[in-house]
Amino acid sequence: MKTTMIIYESHHGSAKKAAMILGTIIGNSRVFAVDEAPEIITFDHIVIVFSFYGLGTAKATVEYLKKIKDQVTEKPLAVIGIGLARADLPGFSKKISEAIDEKEFESFFSEGELRISKLTDLERAQLANFYERYGMELVDNGNFDTAAVADIGEKLMLRYQIPKKPLPKELLKVAIENFIKTHNTVALATGKGDWIRCTPLEYLYLNGVFYIISEGGLKYKGLWQNENISAGIYDEFHTMSNLKGMQITGKAEFVKIRSKEYLDVFAKKNISQKKLDQLPVTLYLIRINPVKYEMLNSAFKKDGFDVRQILDLSEKKACK
Ligand SMILES: Cc1cc2nc3c(=O)[nH]c(=O)nc-3n(C[C@H](O)[C@H](O)[C@H](O)COP(=O)(O)O)c2cc1C
Repeated sequence: MKTTMIIYESHHGSAKKAAMILGTIIGNSRVFAVDEAPEIITFDHIVIVFSFYGLGTAKATVEYLKKIKDQVTEKPLAVIGIGLARADLPGFSKKISEAIDEKEFESFFSEGELRISKLTDLERAQLANFYERYGMELVDNGNFDTAAVADIGEKLMLRYQIPKKPLPKELLKVAIENFIKTHNTVALATGKGDWIRCTPLEYLYLNGVFYIISEGGLKYKGLWQNENISAGIYDEFHTMSNLKGMQITGKAEFVKIRSKEYLDVFAKKNISQKKLDQLPVTLYLIRINPVKYEMLNSAFKKDGFDVRQILDLSEKKACK
C-alpha cells in the first residue's frame, strides 16, 4: 500500500478545505497543516496545497520543504495552488521549486474564495491598495471549486494507488474470475447527473461478460442515458485481515429481446424461448462489459502482494 502526505498552508480555509478533499479521495493519506508536518518523511507521495497570498505566498511551505528536501528527492510530488488568478501559479510554483533544488513536480490550480468579512485589517489594507492600483474595487471574489479539486484528487489517486507489489496479471485474472464465479450477486450502480441508483442483482458470468436478467425497473432510467456503470461484489465484512471484494467499472447495455445473445443467455438458465413467450411479462437482459476491476483481498498480502490490485482491461486493448 502506498501512502500520501498532504501538507497545506491556508490563511482563511480554502487551501485547508482543498487538502481535506484531496486526502479523502487519494486515500491512505494524512493531512497536516504545514506547521504541524513531520520532519521524518515515511510517506510515498507528497502533495503540497497552498493559497496565493501575494509576497507571503507559501512562506511556511518553502521553509518546511527546505528542511525535508533531501528526503523527497525520489518521491513523486504534486503542488496545488488555491487562489483567484490562475496566471499566478507559475510564479508561486517557482518558489516551491527553488526550495527543493528544482525537483520536478506537476502543479495544479483551483479557484479559492476571498471574503472581505474574513480578512484582518492588515490584509484588507494590503488588498485595497493592490486593487486601487488596478482601478478595481475590493469586493468578495472567487468561488471555491469543489469539482475542480475533486478532479485533481481523482487524477492523483489513480496515479498513486497503483500497487507497490502487483500480482502478476495472469494470477490476478484467475483470482478475479474465481471470486466472480463463486458469487452470484452484484450491487449495480447506474445513474445520470444527480440521479443515482444502486440495485442488488443476480448475475450470470459468461466469457468475461456479466448478464443480468430483470423484469425492468428504475436502473434502466440511468442505463438508457448513460452506459457507464460501477458495480460491487463482496463478502460480508468480518475483520480487516479477512477482506474480500471488488469494484467493477464498466459499460452496460440492453440486449435486444429475442436476439441470439438474449436467447443463449436464457438457455444457460434453462429458460427456453417457449417458456419466455408464456410469461405474462417480458424479461429484459443487461450486458455489462467490464473495463476495470479493483480487487481487495487480504489473502494477497499473505503471499507478499498488495491487498488492493487493479486489472485494467482498457490498457490491454490500447496496447494491441
Ligand atoms: C493578503 C492576500 C493576498 C492575496 N494574494 C493573492 C495573489 O497574489 N493572487 C491570487 O490569485 N489571489 C490572492 N489572494 C486571494 C487568495 O488566494 C484566495 O482568497 C484564497 O482562496 C485564499 O485561500 P485560503 O483561504 O486558504 O487562505 C490573496 C488574498 C489575501 C487575503
